[in-house]
Amino acid sequence: MIPLEAFDLILFGGSGDLAMRKLLPALYYRHRDSHSTAGWRIVGVGREELSREAYLERVEAAARKFIAPRDFDDEAWVAFARCLDYARVDARQAGDFARLGSLLSEKPARVRVFYLATAPGLFSAICHNLGAAGLVTPDSRVVLEKPLGRDLASAREINELVGEVFREEQIYRIDHYLGKETVQNLIALRFGNTLFEPLWSRACVRDVQITLAETVGVEGRGEFYDNTGALRDMVQNHLLQLLCIIAMEPPASIDPDAMRDEKLKVLRALRPLTREDVATRTVRGQYRAGAINGRPVPGYQEEEGIPAGSRTETFVALKAELNNWRWAGVPFYLRTGKRMQERLAEVVVNFREVPHALFPSVSGERAANRLVIRLQPDEGLELHLLAKVPGDEMRLRPVALNLDFAETYHTRQWDAYERLLMDVIRGKLTLFMRRDELDAAWRWIEPILEGWEQDPAPPRPYTAGTWGPAASSALVGRDGLAWLQDT
Ligand code: BG6
Repeated sequence: MIPLEAFDLILFGGSGDLAMRKLLPALYYRHRDSHSTAGWRIVGVGREELSREAYLERVEAAARKFIAPRDFDDEAWVAFARCLDYARVDARQAGDFARLGSLLSEKPARVRVFYLATAPGLFSAICHNLGAAGLVTPDSRVVLEKPLGRDLASAREINELVGEVFREEQIYRIDHYLGKETVQNLIALRFGNTLFEPLWSRACVRDVQITLAETVGVEGRGEFYDNTGALRDMVQNHLLQLLCIIAMEPPASIDPDAMRDEKLKVLRALRPLTREDVATRTVRGQYRAGAINGRPVPGYQEEEGIPAGSRTETFVALKAELNNWRWAGVPFYLRTGKRMQERLAEVVVNFREVPHALFPSVSGERAANRLVIRLQPDEGLELHLLAKVPGDEMRLRPVALNLDFAETYHTRQWDAYERLLMDVIRGKLTLFMRRDELDAAWRWIEPILEGWEQDPAPPRPYTAGTWGPAASSALVGRDGLAWLQDT
């Protein structure tokens, strides 16, 4: 492990859900497992008047909840807590930033990371005030959490304002899916092996399916979620980023811009959706009461903070196509939803059937090879091949070559935020989105937002604990295909 430079990490939204649930636990793990942690300083920032001790108590209580008990080590915690501090800053009060300034001025030459885990409405004010207070040093970085804007115009506005204070190389737009170990493995799989590349195109691939399904509902984030919806929360970022990694051309290197240039080309090659396409190629749904693992759960509109009659989608399925030589005509089906039957994130690459069937006993769906890349919960790869059933007859049956990462490596998987936070501190931009990528993603999403807004029909209902509305299966079924879970 490369030792880290000394750094100050200033965590806006330091008492918020993301900080408590993900960021501080991730920092604890890295602190616990790093050889040298001299020079780490993490300052939680919030509007509340809190002493350092009171803040530490809160962080510890949350950490005991969100860190697996076997990983929570009292001694390691005490050492980690020594790096933590708290500062009361109201993001909109320029004067409060002077206080932050005096805290940071003790060691001005260190790497400075401003992590904005706040509502995006505060990004511009925070950046402006940081700049005005002279806190942005050449070695400073800013991390922007998603969702970055609600549409193209608002995303541009935020980028514009942040860009007045930070140079593009100082801006880390985070999509935590890119930090997941298996997403990194997807990059390794595609560009570290010769095996797949010759097959990786319209010549051999019939369709690609990407599913990010969750069993959780809105989990106390009702107000935020109702203003956001699944398209902005999951499709505009996580699903499109995964699509980029699957579909991109091999970059010349893993330099940030080499990777990001190739991802951008994919986003720009997405076939724009017309009004009619929005009606026929997208499905939005909203869950009704049902059961998850045998436990009854309320419908979306009965969740806390959700107004009755809400039209916010909790499920999206859509068909995307790429206008380029490699992928023309290959459907990419994307799907995500809350309160689905299983928690599952996977990419399924279905290959074409053999051109001539020698073995009549297998045909159709069963005859096609398939690569399943499971991102969660059990990270692994499955390659489905046809093999002969033992015996004197020439009978074939699909079998799977299964690679289970947990079994293979026997080590704890890093959480995505552990990697991404370390990358920010080290100044590695490869896994973060560049401004033009964000623009291109919003540009493709916008017609869907507009089409849905003008559609008088509400989202289609689906029962919690299922795979979404029937229209989602019909979307794929119209092409004579099926989601893997429907086969
Ligand atoms: C976040 C979304 O970006 O990703 C959440 O805002 C969602 O709504 C979460 O639950 C899913 O992430 P993961 O890593 O649990 O799959």
